[in-house]
Amino acid sequence: MKTLVSLCKRRGFIFQSSEIYGGLNSCWDYGPLGILLKKNIESRWWKSMTLRDDIEGLSSSILMHPRVWEASGHVEGFSDPLVDCKKCKGRFREDQVKEKKCPTCGGELTESRQFNLMFRTFMGPVEDQTNQVYLRPETAQGSYVNFLNVQTSLRKKIPFGIAQVGKAFRNEITPGNFIFRTREFEQMEMQYFVSCKEDQKWFDFWKEQRLNWHLALGTTPNRLRFHEHKEQELAHYAKQAFDIQFEFPFGWQELEGIHNRTDFDLKRHQEFSGKNLMYLDEEAKEKFLPYVIETAVGLDRTLLAVLCDAYREEEVKGEKRVVLKFAPHIAPVQVAVFPLLKKEELMQVAQKIREDLSHTYYTQFDSAGSIGRRYRRQDETGTPFCITIDFDSLTDQKVTIRDRDTMEQQRVSFDKIKDVIIGQQTT
Ligand code: GAP
Repeated sequence: MKTLVSLCKRRGFIFQSSEIYGGLNSCWDYGPLGILLKKNIESRWWKSMTLRDDIEGLSSSILMHPRVWEASGHVEGFSDPLVDCKKCKGRFREDQVKEKKCPTCGGELTESRQFNLMFRTFMGPVEDQTNQVYLRPETAQGSYVNFLNVQTSLRKKIPFGIAQVGKAFRNEITPGNFIFRTREFEQMEMQYFVSCKEDQKWFDFWKEQRLNWHLALGTTPNRLRFHEHKEQELAHYAKQAFDIQFEFPFGWQELEGIHNRTDFDLKRHQEFSGKNLMYLDEEAKEKFLPYVIETAVGLDRTLLAVLCDAYREEEVKGEKRVVLKFAPHIAPVQVAVFPLLKKEELMQVAQKIREDLSHTYYTQFDSAGSIGRRYRRQDETGTPFCITIDFDSLTDQKVTIRDRDTMEQQRVSFDKIKDVIIGQQTT
């Protein structure tokens, strides 16, 4: 992980938050390449959800009415048992401490107490209990409270879903492993409203769809697996749950959760708000609260999985080559364009080719240093194609396209460049 963290910083993927002030623990900033990679993953998720007729998008606010979190069970139950070390003042989750001694200094630990993971703040100038609000710990509740707004305004019929991408905040006691567990992160969640008679069918459907989505990102199949929640692992709202896990360098861990949440959330919001949230099935002349099948995946966590999966160290002609083998369609930069030398005539042709490609692909222009060095720089950021314009290009109207993975080079005429790139599924 250390190597990856350092590569991410060196190559502009991820920086520590507020680094010049010594950094802020467990918060990270996405640099120019990191945000491109993140947007590519997000956009694939968003399209996979909202290009369907039965799913609508939503962007609800981060601050919500505090009663939302009472209804959802977060005020009462979204907490971890915490112990403090009396000697070094370290703080740990009770379930992660094996002995009754501090794992850092061996000191004596306090009795455990419940620590709520929601961040609190105040709305308006008066900082008292009545003005207290929370930063949302999940996007899901925004979709539940808007269930009827979406359903009636778009005249949706069950089954239908609501998809959201957005920030969530949790005051995690043990954040760590880079962007795996942080206090501010992004979720991509979809709530699918179904009749209770069809919950199993849709649960199975979404379970399979979601695994296929991870595979289509290019993730190595044998680094993905399902983990079923046993009775005692199930969240208070869940009837059935599966995680999709990824094999990180620090072990198999959850990437995504798929839950059958029953009518728990709508029922609770109906009770706490006093508003009727029943769905009217006009054909069957029936009113009922739908069940919810939820798919909830972390965007940052998926990005970390993609990075871990792509990272390779290879030996090429006695030298180490570091390469990020992203699937071409999610690589932050898809094509790099190099004029062989900084000569006016080569620069002009190279700029023209780059401009033409940049309508379709993320491109970079690099004219500094030897071609070998430029290849290595692009390998480290995972660019699948490098195009070199040399003096022959001026007469034969051809370029050299070098493939990141095989390192093979081929001569291709100007008008066939896009065919070669499209052949590798870059979009
Ligand atoms: N609405 C259901 C829900 O929030 P969750 O399992 O708590 O379920 C869903 O979160 C996903 O969000 C997780 O599978 C994980 O990918 C991501 N996630 C949760 N907590 C996180 C954290 N502290 N840092 C980064 N990602 C996190």
